[in-house]
Amino acid sequence: SAERLLLDIWPTMAAAVPAHAPLVRLELLATPHLRFAIMREEPTVVQLTQQFEFSAAHRLHCAGLSDEENRRTFGKCNNPNGHGHNYLVEVTVAGVPDEKTGAVLPLPRFEETVKSHVIDVLDHKHLNDDTEQFRNVNPSVENIARVIWHMLAPHVAPARLHCVRVFETPKTWAEFAGG
Ligand code: NI
Repeated sequence: SAERLLLDIWPTMAAAVPAHAPLVRLELLATPHLRFAIMREEPTVVQLTQQFEFSAAHRLHCAGLSDEENRRTFGKCNNPNGHGHNYLVEVTVAGVPDEKTGAVLPLPRFEETVKSHVIDVLDHKHLNDDTEQFRNVNPSVENIARVIWHMLAPHVAPARLHCVRVFETPKTWAEFAGG
């Protein structure tokens, strides 16, 4: 598995670099959408990151602000009928690879979990009007990252959810890592 390959490379690389420049991170890019990493802090744990996509409309608007304050704060993103984005979601789970399978989390299960708990819920929806999660929560990219974290965190065992990063555009993204 990619996890075992990384775990095997780590000690060799870590021993080969000079003491003043220790190995901090080793990353294996399996496909443009799937990567594995080991960090220096926990060299027995492998992080698995996969990209997912959904398309949705939203309107940035806070019920606690006046219409004028909302317009001033959010500009054209406060347009009453909303606007759309193709969201890119990077989900990272972490764990010690399973002894039998060598996987942090079997990929088909990871994909099915994100699909059923996140993508099927948010894709092709108007986030403010069509989803319970954002009925009373402003669907900013920050809040979307935080909400997706809570939608996924209970469902990735035996791995643990490490972070959720949501790109609203290639330039604008937010990350939530619990807490
Ligand atoms: Ni927007």
